[in-house]
Amino acid sequence: MEKSTSPREGFSSGLAVFLAALGSAVGLGNIWKFPYLTGANGGGAFLFVYFICVLFVGIPVLLCEWYVGRYTRRNAVGAFESLKPGSAWKGIGVMGVLASYLIMFFYTCVAGWVYFYCFKAFTGSFASVTANTVEELFGQVIGVGTAGKSFFSKDVLSPIFWQVIVLCVVGTGISMGVRSGIERITKTLMPLLFMLIIICDIRALTLPGAGEGIRFLFHIDFSQITPAVVLSALGLAFFKLSLAMGVMITYGSYFTEDVHLFKTAGKIAFSDTLVSMLAGIAIFPTVFSFGMEPSAGPGLLFMTIPLVFSKMPLGAFLLAAFFLLTSFAATTALLSLMEVPVAFWTEEFNISRKKATFLNCLFIGLVGVTAALSVDSSSLLGGYKLWGRGFFDFFDHLSSNIIMPLGGLLIAIFVGYFAKKDDVACELSNHGSLQNDTYVSFFNFVIRYVSPALLVIIFLNTIGVISF
Ligand code: PFF
Repeated sequence: MEKSTSPREGFSSGLAVFLAALGSAVGLGNIWKFPYLTGANGGGAFLFVYFICVLFVGIPVLLCEWYVGRYTRRNAVGAFESLKPGSAWKGIGVMGVLASYLIMFFYTCVAGWVYFYCFKAFTGSFASVTANTVEELFGQVIGVGTAGKSFFSKDVLSPIFWQVIVLCVVGTGISMGVRSGIERITKTLMPLLFMLIIICDIRALTLPGAGEGIRFLFHIDFSQITPAVVLSALGLAFFKLSLAMGVMITYGSYFTEDVHLFKTAGKIAFSDTLVSMLAGIAIFPTVFSFGMEPSAGPGLLFMTIPLVFSKMPLGAFLLAAFFLLTSFAATTALLSLMEVPVAFWTEEFNISRKKATFLNCLFIGLVGVTAALSVDSSSLLGGYKLWGRGFFDFFDHLSSNIIMPLGGLLIAIFVGYFAKKDDVACELSNHGSLQNDTYVSFFNFVIRYVSPALLVIIFLNTIGVISF
């Protein structure tokens, strides 16, 4: 296929490309996943392993997706149809669209909790929280004890309310378009996010006993690096860089022609990790300073953080800043996810952008409710299982553990073995203008041999064929 030159809306500059792609990478993962995994698995040693995974799998797959998107200038499914018309390769794009839905079903739910906590923090409701009240509040948010209640009771509707607000915010942004919506929002929110995180860091670092939290995050201990830790670093690299979800193909299709794809990929991986480290610096010194145990996941974000932040001087203000930056991170990640199906439906079925956004939000809201109501076993839908998992866990497991490694593997094989080598080299070197032959040869080697091998290992491990 000839490179597409169709006039299509896209980002306006290299900076816009960088901030939008970074907005997708930076999300809830930076706050509740990455810092804890780093601290608990060898600190600096884990970071080293993570960077190796990013270099040999994350960045190569990211480049594959950007090549597919920018070369074809089409959505995730249409892009493969352009490259190999009538072939089964477009299944990779279909998997991406499906996976973006699966992630949105539960990610909108968690983002809803973040919005709710942000609202609570701004209205000063955390001023006198205790370990019990904070647990009770989180219990309400996830609908603990709602099994058997009417769907229309207040306890059942309140977890859903904030998820609907999230969908309205993201839907409004997406319906405004790529440039006036996604670009404008990410250009505003990403710098604000950096500012807020630095404010939280300064406060955390000036607390008595902050050093212990910093040591937890940055000590270097290679003895903790086991095969299982390497696998979790690889999985994290995929989730962090928003790979195999159709996101980077879709965003790539909006990139300007002059963007240096290698450099942009490196800058994104670096800046995203920096945000995670800055989040860790805001969290762990504070947690240690108040004698609490570090943890990961919802417990850290929705119980430990409100509790410890509310205890420190200026805590109310900092808690509001912290949840505001977390809601920015969740929103920009969701914008990128929502763009995947919206671009697919508008381009493949000729539906207007506004209509496609509305229908997608409605669909995600309807299915996403099952995630919101199944977090705890005593929630309204907590007793229902799909292949042995509650809805929330099922959506998370299928997208993060099955589709991400499988989709990544297929994209690597497609670009490494089936795409035209010259086309790939031409796109990655901006039509030869960059003179980056060494980068391109390195990429070709890694994408043919190294990334697929590592991805096969992760996939076999997640489906239980091998175990570490
Ligand atoms: N990268 C986001 C995070 O770390 O929270 C999550 C994410 C966004 C995953 C978009 C996948 C995706 F396609």
